[in-house]
Amino acid sequence: MKALVALILLVQLAIHKAEAESPPAPLGCDDPESEAAAEVAVNYINGHSHHGYKFALNRIEDIRVVPQGPNTDIIFLELDLLETKCPILSPTPLANCTVRSFAEHAVEGDCDVKLQKVNGILSVLASKCHSHADSREDVSKVCPDCPLLANLNDTDVLEAVSAALNDYNSKTTGPYLRLLEIGRAVIQYHPVHVVVTEFAVGATNCSGEEAKANVGACQLLPEDQSNFGFCTGEVVKHPSQNLQVNCQLYGHQPGVTYTHPGQDTSAGLAPSAVGFTNHNLRLSHNNPVASESSSSEILRSMLSAKSVTKRAVAEAAQHVKVPRPVGFVPPPPPCPGKIRHFDI
Ligand SMILES: *[C@@H]1O[C@H](CO)[C@@H](O)[C@H](O)[C@H]1NC(C)=O
Ligand SMILES: *[C@@H]1O[C@H](CO)[C@@H](O)[C@H](O)[C@H]1NC(C)=O
Ligand SMILES: *[C@@H]1O[C@H](CO)[C@@H](O)[C@H](O)[C@H]1NC(C)=O
Repeated sequence: MKALVALILLVQLAIHKAEAESPPAPLGCDDPESEAAAEVAVNYINGHSHHGYKFALNRIEDIRVVPQGPNTDIIFLELDLLETKCPILSPTPLANCTVRSFAEHAVEGDCDVKLQKVNGILSVLASKCHSHADSREDVSKVCPDCPLLANLNDTDVLEAVSAALNDYNSKTTGPYLRLLEIGRAVIQYHPVHVVVTEFAVGATNCSGEEAKANVGACQLLPEDQSNFGFCTGEVVKHPSQNLQVNCQLYGHQPGVTYTHPGQDTSAGLAPSAVGFTNHNLRLSHNNPVASESSSSEILRSMLSAKSVTKRAVAEAAQHVKVPRPVGFVPPPPPCPGKIRHFDI
């Protein structure tokens, strides 16, 4: 008898405990808490990227929160990003960076990010991204005349960049600039044949005159004096020949470095960019090995987090049958969230 009472008490205790620990309602993708986590994640991704352009948030695809203990949560985020016009070395804050329009052949980034929230403080534990240009078919369908991204190692592109930079260097009174990397390029054939390029540059320790004497001796300025910049070039090839180039140097930015991608291909091309139209966010990351190895872990954790939440939701649905008040409007699905720019 005593044993039975004890058992009943134990069962009641267990039920109580389960009720007390029932999971909170899942976060919606557009909740302020989700947006705060996404902002930390996007800043981290841009901070750890070393090539191409900064990316901005387009949509929160999914969010899972797994409580780890008092005041500690692990958060899994799936994000859709879009390439902005700000080169990664640019000092312009992300909030001031314009997202590249669909007509300019947009580049999308997909990221899985694992964050930790301890006493309200968010930090990123791991992230995995990759990025790709919108398909040529997609762009052409909507905008048949829009010029499409060219391969970064296209002969016309390499020639146009080198012509534009030579022209700039021959006319400037400032330091002799060296090519760091080509960011993107489009080739238009009608009504004129024009190659439009964007490329990152760095100031060397030579003036234009000194470079003419011995360009081989011109080195990028050392880290404590580094001065990076960005150029746009337009080389018209037909029917007439014309060249326009604009470069802007950012000035020295303490702590900002340019990681040269492996061997200097002199054409300013990361080996990973050869044959592609855009820099891949995955390969642009600081520590590809670390983010690769943690990526499978992120995916595994996301999958298990998903099934936990699904189970909790299914159980809640079985137990709670709340009669719908008259005029009940079902809430919008919590995920994916709203699109901030455009769908690609
Ligand atoms: C960014 O935008 C804000 C608000 O429009 C402006 O006040 C600020 O000067 C801008 N900063 C830069 C670096 O462009
Ligand atoms: C630039 O730096 C290199 C390497 O330190 C040096 O050999 C060269 O003389 C310098 N050039 C000028 C113009 O100062
Ligand atoms: C660009 O790179 C791709 C892949 O390596 C190669 O197949 C192609 O021939 C290259 N194009 C030029 C113009 O070098």
